[in-house]
Amino acid sequence: MKKLLVTGSSGLIGSEVVRYFDKLAWEIYGVDNNMRADFFGERGDTRWVQAQLKGECQNFKHVELDIRNRSGVLDLFKELKPDYICHTAAQPSHDLAASRPFDDFDVNAGGTLNLLESARQFCPESPFVHMSTNKVYGDGPNNLPLKELETRWDFDDEAYRNGISENFSIDQSKHSLFGASKVAADVMVQEYGRYFNMPTCALRGGCLTGPNHSGVELHGFLSYLIKVNLAQEEYTIFGYQGKQVRDNIHSYDVARFIDAFFQNPRVGEVYNIGGGRDNSTSILEAFQRIEAISGLPMRYQYSDENRIGDHICYISDLAKMKAHFPSWDITKNLQVVFEEIAESWKKRLVV
Ligand SMILES: NC(=O)c1ccc[n+]([C@@H]2O[C@H](COP(=O)([O-])OP(=O)(O)OC[C@H]3O[C@@H](n4cnc5c(N)ncnc54)[C@H](O)[C@@H]3O)[C@@H](O)[C@H]2O)c1
Repeated sequence: MKKLLVTGSSGLIGSEVVRYFDKLAWEIYGVDNNMRADFFGERGDTRWVQAQLKGECQNFKHVELDIRNRSGVLDLFKELKPDYICHTAAQPSHDLAASRPFDDFDVNAGGTLNLLESARQFCPESPFVHMSTNKVYGDGPNNLPLKELETRWDFDDEAYRNGISENFSIDQSKHSLFGASKVAADVMVQEYGRYFNMPTCALRGGCLTGPNHSGVELHGFLSYLIKVNLAQEEYTIFGYQGKQVRDNIHSYDVARFIDAFFQNPRVGEVYNIGGGRDNSTSILEAFQRIEAISGLPMRYQYSDENRIGDHICYISDLAKMKAHFPSWDITKNLQVVFEEIAESWKKRLVV
């Protein structure tokens, strides 16, 4: 039986990965300490997902461990020697990092190093996938020529028609402390590939989303926006006229890509993973779409101040992923993504 170690297993991506490989009858060990609740308060609590996984999955074992605990991580790898590693545990918020700089860096950079070095010592042949982020490009994408359309911003340069590729500079731009800690992890993941010839890869996510997200204002844009509509709370748009564009990928399609990489691993790779142009939406367009689905008006206020370093328009260019893994593509379009998230919130909001 194939043995998989997933960190952040109660989070959005981690739980999707657990479910995906459980269906393939893999033996799965999920590391999570519910630190999301510490970062975001009660609304970010992921214990409900942990309980679901325990109930639903045949071969899943939860491991209560903090990835900052170096000796704990080393011991776990020594004991398990997993065949595959999927690292999704993180402090995931751009905005929160400034108020928790030590925790942000210790979890994102230090935690990733603990996992990489443990893998090198005990299972160097095992494919290692790390969830990185498009914030490694900092606010560089905002320097591209942009045009303002009726409901969204768009790139005003044909070279970027398909979005931002992996060749975009990660240097000399404003990242937020979160972006900087993720750059450290991303480069370390590449280095364990190039320097030690390990099968590692960093997936630079756009907006990763899905029904299992515990979206909060500071993280999980679409999940949070849909919840606010359904609960008839008030959404705050931060700058850019609400025309800022995000590309959204369902967590299931992320898990499918991780599977493709596990099957045909490469060394020290990076990929931009997002929904691409077809799954992109501005905030204003997202308002329209959820209003049509729920039949409820979007209540919102506008703040002139954009979030520091926030992207005005970001679309992932998926060409490299598709070239390296031709059988992979997006299977859940934007409408399906919205509907699934709305269904999930409806159930959770009545509980
Ligand atoms: N969701 C997005 O839009 C998005 C976009 C780009 C990149 N990413 C990246 O993808 C990865 C997964 O994101 P997500 O949305 O699933 O996040 P999430 O917050 O839903 O899940 C992360 C999980 O990790 C756990 N965790 C945090 N610190 C921990 C620690 N020290 N030890 C053990 N567990 C810990 C949390 O409790 C949580 O359950 C992250 O690396 C994030 O930076 C996410």
